[in-house]
Amino acid sequence: MLADARASGSLLSLLQEFAMKFSAACIFAICAAGIALSPFTRAQDDKPKMTIKEAMKLHKDKINDKFIKGTATDEEKKKLQEAYEAMGKNKPPKGDEKDWKAKTDALVKAIKDNDKDAYAKAVNCMACHSAHKPK
Ligand code: HEC
Repeated sequence: MLADARASGSLLSLLQEFAMKFSAACIFAICAAGIALSPFTRAQDDKPKMTIKEAMKLHKDKINDKFIKGTATDEEKKKLQEAYEAMGKNKPPKGDEKDWKAKTDALVKAIKDNDKDAYAKAVNCMACHSAHKPK
């Protein structure tokens, strides 16, 4: 009786040990898979969510004016930020890439900081179009 209990007890601990090792192995496998896959997921993250023309739709819809007036909703601000982040990930159709990055980064930063003055300067249509918009 006593021996039985001890035997089943050790069987249980054996099982527990096995389960722990097994789950540790699972976690390890999941991590390894995650690490192995991360170059792909990262590449996906780096892909722009929209084209520059799609981002410009927000300007056509005058969401930029709303931001400057302070009437843009949180959702519109989020859209603007996403659009400028996507623009930064796109190659400019024309002009210097460093300058393009600086312009799009300034836009993202102004939105993140909720800084209307910085945004009004950064969203200068003509300054950016003359440098980067093809005819
Ligand atoms: C940081 C740079 C930048 C700023 C700021 C900017 N644009 Fe643009 N915009 C571009 C580029 C680049 C294109 C050309 C995209 C293409 O041809 O792929 C463009 C194209 C456009 C187009 C044509 C889109 C189409 O479908 O062909 C419109 C309209 C437009 N912009 C409006 C505006 C307005 C209005 C503002 C100011 C409130 C503005 N943009 C500010 C970079 C900018």
